[in-house]
Amino acid sequence: MQFPQKHTAAGTTIFTVMSALAQQHNAINLSQGFPDFAIDERLAHALGAAANEGYNQYAPMAGLPALRQAIAANFAHRYGLAIDPDTEITITPGATYGIYTAFTAILQPGDEVIVLEPAYDSYLPNIEMNGAIPVPVALSAPSFAVDWQRVADAITPKTKAIIVNTPHNPTGAIWSREDWDQLAALVRNTDIFILSDEVYEQLVFDGQQHYSVLKHPELRQRSFALYSFGKVYNNTGWKMGYCIAPPALTTAFRRIHQFLCFTVNTPAQYALAAHLAHHTEPIHQLMEHKRNHFLALMAYTPFTIHAPTQGSYFQVASYERISSLPDHQFAEWLTREHGVATIPVSAFYKNGKDDKLIRFCFAKKETTLEAAVERLSRLG
Ligand SMILES: Cc1ncc(COP(=O)(O)O)c(C=O)c1O
Repeated sequence: MQFPQKHTAAGTTIFTVMSALAQQHNAINLSQGFPDFAIDERLAHALGAAANEGYNQYAPMAGLPALRQAIAANFAHRYGLAIDPDTEITITPGATYGIYTAFTAILQPGDEVIVLEPAYDSYLPNIEMNGAIPVPVALSAPSFAVDWQRVADAITPKTKAIIVNTPHNPTGAIWSREDWDQLAALVRNTDIFILSDEVYEQLVFDGQQHYSVLKHPELRQRSFALYSFGKVYNNTGWKMGYCIAPPALTTAFRRIHQFLCFTVNTPAQYALAAHLAHHTEPIHQLMEHKRNHFLALMAYTPFTIHAPTQGSYFQVASYERISSLPDHQFAEWLTREHGVATIPVSAFYKNGKDDKLIRFCFAKKETTLEAAVERLSRLG
C-alpha cells in the first residue's frame, strides 16, 4: 500500500522517542513537557461529578456556553480584555488542534508561513499538511530574541501567516510590548495573519508580565490566539484548550472545526467551567518555585545555563563542558548511561541546527528533580 507524504518531518516525534527511551532505560523523564504530580483535587472531583450528573452527550459545536463565559470573565479579570464568548471563543481539544485548525482555515497550497525557530514541532508538519510552505527564521541564541530584520527579509507576497510563541518552548524567552509593535509594523498594509501560541501565558516569572497578542488592538484584528488548559491546570492528558479570535476569524475557524471534531469532551468542559469560575488565584508561583529549585540544583552540575527561563516549564542548557557529541546522540547517551531523559534542541529546527543544547522540563516533583540532578552532578 502507498500513502501520500503529507509532510516532511522525519519518523516519530522526538517527544515520543525520548519518552520511550526513558522507559526502556528506566531513566528519570525530564524530556516531554508534562507534570508528574497530581492535579488540583477540586478539578478532578468536578470531572467525576459532571460525568455522574449526566453531562455525557455532545456539547455545542463552539463549546459549552458556561465555559466560554468563564474564559471571557477570566481574561477580563487577568488582562482587562473584553472578549465576546459567543463570537470570539471556540473550545478545542488542546492547542495543537487549535493551531492545525487555524492553519487549515487560512492556508491554500503554495502559501508561505514564517516560523520562528527553534519551534514547537507540530508547526511545520501542520503547515505542510495544508500544502503550504514553512519559512523558518532563526531566533538569536543565546537570548533567543527575534531578529526583526531577518523576519522582514523573509516576508514575500506569498506570506500568508506568521506563527509566534510566547512564553517560548523550548527557550523560555518571552515577548515584550516592543516585539508586538515590531511585528505590527511589518504586517501593517498586508493580509498576513498571526497565529499566537500562548499556551504558557500563566507561567511567567520574576514579576514579569505576559503580553498577549490580544492586548495589541491592531494585531488582534488579524490574530488567532491559542491556549491550553493542560499547561494551566497540569492536566495535559485532558487535551483541552481554546482559540480566541475576532468574529470573522472565529467564523472561518469554526467552519473547519465543525467537520474536524465538531465538539469537545463534555464532562471536561463542565469541570473546567466550574473550576475557572471559582478559582482565579495566580498559578505561576508553583512553577517559579520549581524553576528556582532546579536552577539551584543545576549549579552542582557541569551544564551551562546561559539564561534562566523567563516563562514556560522548560530550561535549555549547554553541555559544551561535558561532550562534543551532536545533541541527539548526547541526549540518547545521557538517557542510556546516566538515566536522565531530555530533548535535543536541534529537534526544534527544520534543518536540525545543532547548538549543543538540550531542554529540561522542570514541571516535576521536587524529589524527581533532586534525583535527576543527583545523577547529572556525577557527570562533573
Ligand atoms: C508551544 C506549545 N504549543 C502547544 C502545545 C500543545 O498543547 P496541547 O497539549 O493543549 O495540544 C505545547 C505542548 O507542549 C507547546 O509546548
